[in-house]
Amino acid sequence: MSTERLSWRMRHIEQELRTDWLGHPVTVLDQVDSTNRYAKQARLEMGARHGAVVWADQQTQGRGRLGKVWHSPAGQNIYLSILLEPPRTYLTGLQSLLAGIAVIRTVRALTGLDARMKWPNDGVIHGKKFCGILVEAGLQPSPWCVMGIGLNVFHGETIGIVHATSLQDEWSGVLSREDLVVHLLQVLEEVYATWMIEGNVWLTAEWAKYSATLGECVKVTRPGQDDVVGVAEAIDTDGALLVRADGHLHTVIAGEVSIRLADGRYAPDRF
Ligand code: BTN
Repeated sequence: MSTERLSWRMRHIEQELRTDWLGHPVTVLDQVDSTNRYAKQARLEMGARHGAVVWADQQTQGRGRLGKVWHSPAGQNIYLSILLEPPRTYLTGLQSLLAGIAVIRTVRALTGLDARMKWPNDGVIHGKKFCGILVEAGLQPSPWCVMGIGLNVFHGETIGIVHATSLQDEWSGVLSREDLVVHLLQVLEEVYATWMIEGNVWLTAEWAKYSATLGECVKVTRPGQDDVVGVAEAIDTDGALLVRADGHLHTVIAGEVSIRLADGRYAPDRF
């Protein structure tokens, strides 16, 4: 990205962002290995605090869940990390649901697309993944979390059986990554504020409204355990997926979910 474009992007954010604490500051980078790694280092070595945001045009070592690579080409998509320092009692793994709600509300508001969340933290449109969320958290020296959001805007690469899409693949209107980021940060600040007041019951109920998983026949693959095949009934207030199978309600804390398609096959576990 040219230097002019980079400074235009910074000015745009400063002028347009209407938030009290989120995105102050936004560090805009041309290229970085991983915005999550940068945000963690910024907290330790550069005094970054609650609400600091890192946004890169390209990642050379973008990281996905379960040690996977997050393909992060230049000039195409959004690679964003947000540093939060929530009260200790809120550091429960539910931050990825929070990010999911903000992403879905943003995409719906700006495009009208039927964007949804596949449990636990994949944004999908028409069954194809356009967004991934990677939350890292710790308690030292005080509670912190880095919420990494990868959002395919212009480029959704399909690798092997992994079906991906981008907003532009699904919608023919004009998209601006800058407007998407500004909107996303504003929505995220609102959702975070409501969560602090209403708590986890509200957060999980809100997430359920945007779910692509609940009510579907699913297959859950869990490391070192048998697959669970059944109906995804609900998520509990800890964010676990409750799956009815063989007359029992299974509580799934972690795993990969495949949703059964109309032809009876299960969609690949990684959209
Ligand atoms: C997944 O679905 O596996 C999660 C992908 C998360 C990707 C984002 S891009 C911004 C942030 N920086 C990273 O290295 N990863 C996250």
